[in-house]
Amino acid sequence: MALIRVPQSWQLPERDVTSEAAFFNRRRFLKTLIGAGVGGSIAGLWGCQAQSVEGEEPLLGTSPLQGAPNPAFLDAGSDRPLTNEMLAATYNNFYEYGGSKHIWQSAQALPTEDWKVEVTGLVNNPRTFDLDDLQKTFPLEERVYRFRCVEAWAMVVPWIGFPMNALIAAVDPTPQAKFVRFTSFYDPQVTKGPGLHSRFLPWPYTEGLRIEEMANELAFFAVGIYGHTLPKQHGAPIRAVLPWKYGFKGAKSIVSIEFTDTQPATYWNTISSSEYKFDANVEPQVPHPRWSQAKERLIGSGSEFSWEERSTLLYNGYEEYVAALYA
Ligand code: MTE
Repeated sequence: MALIRVPQSWQLPERDVTSEAAFFNRRRFLKTLIGAGVGGSIAGLWGCQAQSVEGEEPLLGTSPLQGAPNPAFLDAGSDRPLTNEMLAATYNNFYEYGGSKHIWQSAQALPTEDWKVEVTGLVNNPRTFDLDDLQKTFPLEERVYRFRCVEAWAMVVPWIGFPMNALIAAVDPTPQAKFVRFTSFYDPQVTKGPGLHSRFLPWPYTEGLRIEEMANELAFFAVGIYGHTLPKQHGAPIRAVLPWKYGFKGAKSIVSIEFTDTQPATYWNTISSSEYKFDANVEPQVPHPRWSQAKERLIGSGSEFSWEERSTLLYNGYEEYVAALYA
């Protein structure tokens, strides 16, 4: 894989995968919300599905993929090594496939064959790309980004993909385009996550940006990770990566990109606008209503029951790139 080498010391024991018990997370909140509206119909779906992955293969279906290392984005900081690949591949948020972090097996139901991404709305060149088109149109690069979940855990991940501004150039938004909406794959026959069929949850998963944010050089579409195509649990075959925002802004398994003149409704913001802002920038001084954002835990670091804490960085450490967007 390109120039990214993963030293042995980062190959952390599998026991670290089970450390989430100590964490705040949104499952309890959602359980309450759904429980209030749907009674027992989804009872049981929220149970912890922690499973050993020993001897199993969380990278099913991936193939090697190279991107030219982008020297501007190869160093995520001296205090934080690259996250162990197997840990990242078995500690996921992908609610379409379950309510625990351990959804990598159920996510294998995602059908990625003949994938198409439709780019529509206020653009002069609407396009439908298949994966071949995407890779032929947009040269792939590799970038190591810090990643910060709103639940206060963090990782460092080497992505392979292309900058969103290259897609903007290809489809040429009209002057009326002010926002963009990303929509994730949704098929009630396949996506069987908790409450998925509840009329109280705004499926499909959608996310959005202001167009200036999408044009920022950090904004990225990933088609690979750790030197291979994305495994399904990371959002194959294409997902958004926005390293200065909380992880929920990065919609997985994108099927549609729509340019609009008004701010689109988005999944988490529709569920709770006070907890999941549309902007969702990483800001240590702005607590989530139910927990502080001043610190974050680096997954896989430290001991089994206590991942190491770091101070959260404004805009996740990407202030120089994005502060002007919020001046
Ligand atoms: N995209 C979809 N379609 N569904 C999801 O549940 N979860 C989000 C984001 N994208 C999510 C999603 C959240 S909350 C996070 S933290 C990241 O994906 C997790 O990405 P990872 O599992 O690849 O680390």
